[in-house]
Amino acid sequence: MIFVTGGAGFIGSAFVRNYCHNEHIVILDAMTYAADLERISICKDRISFIEGDICDFELVSSIFNKYKPRCVVHFAAESHVDRSIDGPVAFVQANIIGTLNLLQCAYSYWQNCESVLKQSFRFLHVSTDEVYGSLSFDDNPFTETSNYAPNSPYSASKASSDHFVRAWNQTFGLPVIISHCSNNYGPWQFPEKLIPLMIAKCLSQQMLPVYGNGQNIRDWIHVDDHVSALFELLNHAESSSVWGIGGGAEISNLDLVHIICKTLDELKPLPNGKYQDLVTFVTDRPGHDLRYAISTNKISSKTSWKPKVDIKDGLMETIIWYINSNSWLENISKKSSYVEYNRLGLGQNKGIAK
Ligand code: NAD
Ligand code: DAU
Repeated sequence: MIFVTGGAGFIGSAFVRNYCHNEHIVILDAMTYAADLERISICKDRISFIEGDICDFELVSSIFNKYKPRCVVHFAAESHVDRSIDGPVAFVQANIIGTLNLLQCAYSYWQNCESVLKQSFRFLHVSTDEVYGSLSFDDNPFTETSNYAPNSPYSASKASSDHFVRAWNQTFGLPVIISHCSNNYGPWQFPEKLIPLMIAKCLSQQMLPVYGNGQNIRDWIHVDDHVSALFELLNHAESSSVWGIGGGAEISNLDLVHIICKTLDELKPLPNGKYQDLVTFVTDRPGHDLRYAISTNKISSKTSWKPKVDIKDGLMETIIWYINSNSWLENISKKSSYVEYNRLGLGQNKGIAK
């Protein structure tokens, strides 16, 4: 039995879809704007789903005691940088207080487990490469020993949660693993993140908002490659180990948007003009990190994991999925001001909004 938090979100649901056939999964998800049960509807006979908040001590404790999981995979979080600039408090609550509560409940459960389970139990904390801050164009990629230097309220909250996870291991002995992954993409992603937002806007022929000059670089990984790395770590990583996970596919935002436009020119040509004509440079994100990239030397040398999905194939699959999932896109977009293009994340309220 695996306990997954945030299993109705983008990455958590990919983990559930990929591994619910191996093992029963119990999911706890607060069903925020980013959640969607359709993502896991094909697994409904193989999972137990509980709607609730990771900050709820009684509820989380009762899940541990009832399901007696062999591990926790902790995805639940507020995950969007722009939203964290406008409303950081929700990020502190979910990402820091929520993780702390989960650690306390996990620890009290783990302490009383029988000895074999106590030995093998793992708390896998799904973190991000953003906690390491920003690289310049010629820096080497981040590694597991890079210094923490979070620049956004989102990455500061994830960094803080990483430190609590580490502390529960060092102080109390809870067996933890921390992973730091780069930017994920793939089907089912909420259309506020760059790739699905650009596809959604192309499909509704709206302007494509590129922040600043579009030269910022991200290292993209297909979500299925991310979750296969997590499954590998869950089964083989030692307690207190830290792992970088990346796709090795660095590309500037502008080049990526151009690829999306060209692919759509082929798959769904506009009656007049090209999708690239919709590109519009807009005010930059405050504190916009220039470049992320993370080394996978450790995970690829110590385990059999390698990313399998080539970025070109993965983008093609993703774009086709969004074209064929128009009603899903329309429904989920109603929960977002993004697709209407009500720009968030300019920090005009200095982060004071809730
Ligand atoms: P997401 O926003 O799509 O999903 C987050 C899920 O967590 C949602 O289903 C939401 O309802 C749930 N949630 C939020 N607050 C909760 C709470 N208090 N209690 C219970 N459930 C709650 O996020 P995602 O992109 O799937 O990211 C999942 C995890 O992976 C996050 O921890 C994120 O920091 C990390 N991560 C994301 C990326 C990426 O590129 N998206 C990369 C590296 C790491
Ligand atoms: O690196 C891992 C992180 O990747 C995860 O921890 C975060 O949860 C995830 O949201 C992502 O953070 P980014 O800020 O890199 O992702 P986002 O999709 O918001 O933006 C990607 C790049 O595209 C970034 O340089 C900002 C730019 N951008 C984004 C949007 C939404 C634009 O130019 N225009 C846009 O409209």
